[in-house]
Amino acid sequence: MAKYEIIGGTPLSGEVVISGAKNAVVAILPATLLVPGKCRIENVPDISDVRILLDIMRSMGASVEWAEPGVVEIDCTDVPYGEPNPELVRKMRASYYLLGAQLGRYGRSHVALPGGCAFAARPIDQHIKGFGLLGADVEETEEYVAMEPGPDGLHGQRISLDVVSVGATANIMLAACLIEGQTIIENAAKEPHIVDLANFLNTMGARISGAGTDTIKIRGVKQLHGGTYAAIPDQIEAGTYMAAAVATGGNVLVQNVIPKHMECITTRLREMGAKITEFDDAIRVQATRPLRRITVKTMPYPGFPTDMQAQICVCMVLATGTSRLTESVYETRFFGYCSELENMGAKIKVEGKTASVVGIGDRKLRGTTVHAKDLRAGAALIIAGLAAEGTTYVKNIHYVERGYERIIEKLTKLGAQIKRIEE
Ligand code: EPU
Repeated sequence: MAKYEIIGGTPLSGEVVISGAKNAVVAILPATLLVPGKCRIENVPDISDVRILLDIMRSMGASVEWAEPGVVEIDCTDVPYGEPNPELVRKMRASYYLLGAQLGRYGRSHVALPGGCAFAARPIDQHIKGFGLLGADVEETEEYVAMEPGPDGLHGQRISLDVVSVGATANIMLAACLIEGQTIIENAAKEPHIVDLANFLNTMGARISGAGTDTIKIRGVKQLHGGTYAAIPDQIEAGTYMAAAVATGGNVLVQNVIPKHMECITTRLREMGAKITEFDDAIRVQATRPLRRITVKTMPYPGFPTDMQAQICVCMVLATGTSRLTESVYETRFFGYCSELENMGAKIKVEGKTASVVGIGDRKLRGTTVHAKDLRAGAALIIAGLAAEGTTYVKNIHYVERGYERIIEKLTKLGAQIKRIEE
C-alpha cells in the first residue's frame, strides 16, 4: 500500500495543465462499443478508472491501444456479445455504462452491478426505468442486471427521470442511439460530461439534440461510424487545483479549462476573497488568507458540484467565521473526510444535509496521518495537508489515483512538497 507524504506550508505557485475529464471519458469509452470502426479519443487521462475500463473492453474483445500519451485508439467492430468480466466491472462505478452500450449494440445485456466510491447509497433504478421504457425486459439481482428485448421489441420512448441523474441520462442516451424511433429524456442531467458524450456520439453519426438542457432528444440511426474526438477538460480536477491554490494562499494559472464550466466554483472562491482572472482556456487564481466565510449548497450542474464539496470544505476550514455547506446530491458524503479534517484541527458540525464549518482564521491545520475514504475526500485531504503545518500522511491513495492524473508531478511543479511512499 502506498501513501502520500506532504510537508505543508508552501503556497502553490506556477502553472498546471488540466487533463481530460474523467467522467466524460468513462462514458465515451463504453460508447465506442456502439461504433463499428476505429475511434480515436484524445485528451484521455491516464488514471486507474480509465485503465480498468480499457482492461474490461480488451477482455470483451476490443482492440485497444494508447497511440500516444493521452490518446486511445479503440476498435470494437469484432466484439462478440458476452458478459464483461464481473470482477473488473465491480472495481469501478462507470462500468454501468456497459449496460446501455450493450443494449444499444446487441439488443440485450448482462453486466455485474458496479463498484466504485461507496460514499453513499448509489441506486440505479432510474437507469433500469429508462431501459424498461425503451422496451427491455430487465432482470435485476443483487449480483447483476440482465436485459432482453420485451414482447414489443426495443423502441424510442419519452422518459421522464424522477431524479436528475448523470448516469441514467448517459446510459439512456447510449441505449437509444441505435434504437428505432425518437427517445426524449426529460429532467435530464446537464453536466458538461453529458454534453461531451452527446458530442462524441454525434461525431460518430448519432442524432442527439438538446444535451446541456433538461430535455434531450435522440433520433435512432441505423449505424454509427468511426472517427476522432477530443474529450473536454476535467471540471473537477481544475476545481481541485483552484481550491488548492486558495487554501495555500497561492498564485496558480490553471490551464486547459473551459472557464464557463468553472463558473459555479469561481463564484464561490471569489466570495471567499480569491482574485480570479479568466482567459480563453485558462484561469488564474490568487489568494491570501484570511479567507471569508461562505455558504454553499451542492446541486446538479450548473450548480456547485457535489464532487467539489470536500475540497471547498477545506477552504471553509481555513476561513474566518462559520461557513455553511449543504449537500443535496449525496447526503452521506461528509462522512468521507470531516472526521479526518477534525484530526488536523478543523471544527465541523454535521447535522443532516448541512455542515457548519468553523473557520480557523489565522491559525493553521496541523499535519497528521489521515485516511482517504473516496476519491474527492482524498483530494481534500491532500489540499489540507498542503495548507497545514508539519507533515501529513494521506493513506488509501488508490482512491485518489482513480481520478487524478499525475497528481504528484503536477503538485510538485507548483512547488508542493509531496511524495508517494510505498509502505
Ligand atoms: N440516483 C437515484 N437513482 C438512480 C441514479 C441516481 O436515485 O438511478 C440519485 C443518486 O442517489 C444521487 C443523484 O441521483 O442522489 C445523482 O446521482 P447520479 O446518477 O447523477 O450519479 P452517478 O451517475 O452515479 C456521477 C459521477 C459522480 C458524481 C455524480 C453527481 C460518474 C462516473 N460519476 O455519478 O462522480 O458525484 O455523477 O454529479 O460520472 C466522482 O467523480 O468522484 C464521482 C463520484
